Amino acid sequence: MLKIKNIAIFASGAGSNAENIIKYFENNENGKVKTLLCNVQNAYVVTRADNLDIPCIIFSRDDFYISNRIIDRLLHDEIDLIVLAGFLWLVPEKIIRLYNNRIINIHPALLPDYGGKGMYGDNVHKAVIADCKKESGITVHYVNETYDEGDIIFQAKCEITASDTAETLAQKVHALEYEHYPKVIESVLMHL
Ligand code: GAR
Repeated sequence: MLKIKNIAIFASGAGSNAENIIKYFENNENGKVKTLLCNVQNAYVVTRADNLDIPCIIFSRDDFYISNRIIDRLLHDEIDLIVLAGFLWLVPEKIIRLYNNRIINIHPALLPDYGGKGMYGDNVHKAVIADCKKESGITVHYVNETYDEGDIIFQAKCEITASDTAETLAQKVHALEYEHYPKVIESVLMHL
């Protein structure tokens, strides 16, 4: 019998993707969410993890970049895949090396456009709308030591109409994220 793979989610904010992923894997034969790790103590994702009975670790910069606390936890939990879902810190090289090609991120635009430091959440949608783009979308990619530059695994597009604002675009992009990210995670898990 195949072993169910363990997922760790890293998140910094509202956590709607984290919740969607946790629910998707609640009764899944390929994977389950073992731990949620969050760098913002009062982020709403912490409440979501609590409501869904997922152990949640709050960590500091020192925990992440200097000590081995996070790596020790990942190893202790036998994590197979790290999933970033609205996580805003750059992943340190030691974790990238340990989890080579086993860390993935979702970005709320069509990379390589509108990526890089500072390009997250609504900042991305505002920039896309300001440029009068006709389409945007989502990109799932492997994580390397540079923001938003790892190899692309999956993209999906949505149309932008004249009446769209950053807010309505965010809703369209979130809908794409909810539909696709769990399935892409599952297919990555199945190829580990
Ligand atoms: C999502 O749209 C995700 O793609 C984006 O932050 C949002 C988090 O929403 N991530 C980035 O911008 C990373 N550069 P959520 O907390 O409700 O899942």
